[in-house]
Amino acid sequence: MELTLTEEQIMIQQAAKDYAQQSCLPGVIERDEKQLFAKEQIMQLSELGFMGMMVDPNYGGAGLDTISYVLAIEEISKVDASVAVCMSVNNSLVCWGLETYGTEAQKQKYLSPIAQGKKDDELYLGAFLLSEPEAGSDATSQRTTVEDMGEYFLLNGTKNWITNGSSASVYLVMAQADHSKGHKGINTLIVEKNWPGVSVGAKENKMGIRSSDTHSITFTDVKVPKENLIREPGFGFQFAMKTLDGGRIGIAAQALGIAGGAYERALAYSKERKAFGKEIGQHQAIQFKLADMATRIEAARLLCYKAAWEKDNGMDYSVSAAMAKLYASEAAMWVTTNAVQVHGGYGYVKEYHVERMMRDAKITEIYEGTSEVQRMVIGRSILK
Ligand code: CAA
Repeated sequence: MELTLTEEQIMIQQAAKDYAQQSCLPGVIERDEKQLFAKEQIMQLSELGFMGMMVDPNYGGAGLDTISYVLAIEEISKVDASVAVCMSVNNSLVCWGLETYGTEAQKQKYLSPIAQGKKDDELYLGAFLLSEPEAGSDATSQRTTVEDMGEYFLLNGTKNWITNGSSASVYLVMAQADHSKGHKGINTLIVEKNWPGVSVGAKENKMGIRSSDTHSITFTDVKVPKENLIREPGFGFQFAMKTLDGGRIGIAAQALGIAGGAYERALAYSKERKAFGKEIGQHQAIQFKLADMATRIEAARLLCYKAAWEKDNGMDYSVSAAMAKLYASEAAMWVTTNAVQVHGGYGYVKEYHVERMMRDAKITEIYEGTSEVQRMVIGRSILK
């Protein structure tokens, strides 16, 4: 395994860093406070080719590797984790799923514009609809139903906490086709948001990643064309699990970036702020915190890059992705909490950014599989 980045990867990293500083930093506090979706910033991301980074250029993507994707998510998350989750869902959960399992026609029609992040100069995103009011961690308990009506499928039910819920044009929806078959009776369907019977609920008022676009989505007798089924009937649960393996690398990178952003701010502050006659970084109490932050971030980075490297090299990365997400999200929570502590009273107010990062970090322990679910995945694999 190579531990140095290629020239191309360094270039992507720098492009993401510049984008984050120039486009995301201005207004990030206001977007968080008012829960404003960063539409303009996402449009700029699509211009950079970051909405379908790993997708084959024949389908509108940038054809890059997973390491480059992780580097980009990491840099953007240092500044705006809400923009990063929109990008992560579009890339990992939607583009990857469509490219890996979609038919040629599905790729032409849906993957191409989603990978470009736009169609006819308008934002064109995807969302991944697995969670339900009563099916979060226990994802096999799908209550949304899909009925085969001969000429089309009929979709009914409600999905919860959907990232890109109102901004996406296309949804990948998991639904139960045959209850008697349990998780083997779940299908995945491609559904367009503007079809009759699709309704978007109010935006969730969240603790963190407040400018990301999270909604519930309800389907009432939605007619879905037969050709919008992904692979064969009953493949839906496997589709969701496989797709989430890659999604978890994206969220691990997001957590890594949030931690890195908070650490950089804590480090800078510890060189500016003086107390008891010297810079606070010269006090061992602060120095030890900074040392622990740097060490946890480095460990999270190695796990994250390893999972990405395994994916790029065609290896099984399910457990590595779970380990990376588990460790990086808990590191992000720890680092951001301590970054607030280093800042003292200033850390508790919005202008210093670290309080937002602490709120943003929390979701990385919850979505795309809670820390408990990651431990289940890891635990089962080591006991197998
Ligand atoms: N790849 C392929 N197949 C997999 C798999 C994987 N990674 N993980 C499980 N499977 C298969 C199993 O092999 C099994 O298949 P068979 O019956 O054919 O053997 C089947 O799926 C069921 O697996 P389990 O028996 O392990 O299922 P379980 O009910 O015990 O639960 C779980 C497994 C890991 C807890 C799973 O339900 C899970 O990951 N839950 C969390 C769901 C999640 O991450 N939700 C996030 C929502 S999306 C989101 O947050 C996006 C966003 O907007 C940000």
